[in-house]
Amino acid sequence: MSESEGAVVSGAHGFGAPNARDAVRALRPSQIREVANAGFGVADVLPFWFGESDRVTPQFVRDAASRALADGATFYTHNLGIAPLRDSLSRYVSALHGATTREHIAVTSAGVNALMLAAQLVVGAGDRVVAVTPLWPNLVEIPKILGASVDTVALSYGSNGWTLDLERLLAALTPGTRMLMINSPNNPTGWTMTRDQQRIVLEHCRRLGIWIVADEVYERLYYGDGAPGQPAPSFLDLAARDERVIAVNSFSKAWLMTGWRLGWIVAPTQLMDDLGKLVEYNTSCAPSFVQQAGVVAVEEGERFTQALVADLRASRDHLVKALQSIEGVDVRVPDGAMYLFFALPGAQDSLELCKSLVREAGLGLAPGSAFGPEGEGFVRWCYACDPARLDAGVERLQRFLAARGVA
Ligand SMILES: Cc1ncc(COP(=O)(O)O)c(C=O)c1O
Repeated sequence: MSESEGAVVSGAHGFGAPNARDAVRALRPSQIREVANAGFGVADVLPFWFGESDRVTPQFVRDAASRALADGATFYTHNLGIAPLRDSLSRYVSALHGATTREHIAVTSAGVNALMLAAQLVVGAGDRVVAVTPLWPNLVEIPKILGASVDTVALSYGSNGWTLDLERLLAALTPGTRMLMINSPNNPTGWTMTRDQQRIVLEHCRRLGIWIVADEVYERLYYGDGAPGQPAPSFLDLAARDERVIAVNSFSKAWLMTGWRLGWIVAPTQLMDDLGKLVEYNTSCAPSFVQQAGVVAVEEGERFTQALVADLRASRDHLVKALQSIEGVDVRVPDGAMYLFFALPGAQDSLELCKSLVREAGLGLAPGSAFGPEGEGFVRWCYACDPARLDAGVERLQRFLAARGVA
């Protein structure tokens, strides 16, 4: 080996240690994962920490994927998705939110990839992004990967549950802000933005040229007083399709397809060529047979989704009632999503509490601090499972709190 080769290998040219970029190293690791890791080796854990149902994807969707595979759907597709899926989704979105064409739809590898693509489309290094928190961490961390900075506006917690101080949000949306990321119905709180709030925020963002990325993956998991199947208020109801609004959605929640990695974006047609390039350089396309199953989910899944929402509503009400009977637990009824985000005695350090809960009581909850500092003091419980399992979890919680002398 020559002297110079040896120097390169030892890093003597000043490259330093073989680390990732600073922006990547600064990302927060998932605290939910940290709690799950604390549960390794605990034989009997009831896991309510992740955002998914304990039920398998409905049979008719699994059958559609099997048929597609048997028919040889194993090839690359168009970057923006197969035409039948884009058509099905454009009809679905049109029925929920008004006229939307295939040219406004891009198929993605689920919601998280859609969020990354949306961010890649409109933000870069040095841009300012605003997000409403507590929030599923991916929305806050994704813009940071791209070198943007993220300022947060916290929801407040009071007798009406989690609420938004609209004036504070508008004040944070200053000239020069590039993007607002808003997730409604919200993970973890279930907070759902009202139509009036959306109208005012849209108006404000229009005036200042701020992009809105609306994460609407829980739009169908909404328990308002409207007709069965009515989605949560959406920015798509108010905005013309060619405004600075990008809506992100997913098959994960409304069709129980978390492991399939299928989602979509509704965006201005002017973005689509550039979005196609980004899909090419990220994933190239969503898997072909999964997209074909997606067509069947959208075309034949409405009854399933509505029945699912009815079950989730019953589970939500069941768990709220059970938790309200525990002294010191402060829990409200959320309007959407599939979580209760509630205050618990001893949760001032929610990460430590959740680790103790899993180790000592076999109860898997997500710590509130995973969703931002304003989530501290709270824990998140995903109630997408049958009531008997929820009861078993509540019993474990009661025993744990009693042993600590706090309930
Ligand atoms: C708010 C929010 N957005 C997006 C996603 C992305 O889900 P997926 O990537 O499975 O579509 C999730 C998943 O839990 C979520 O909670």
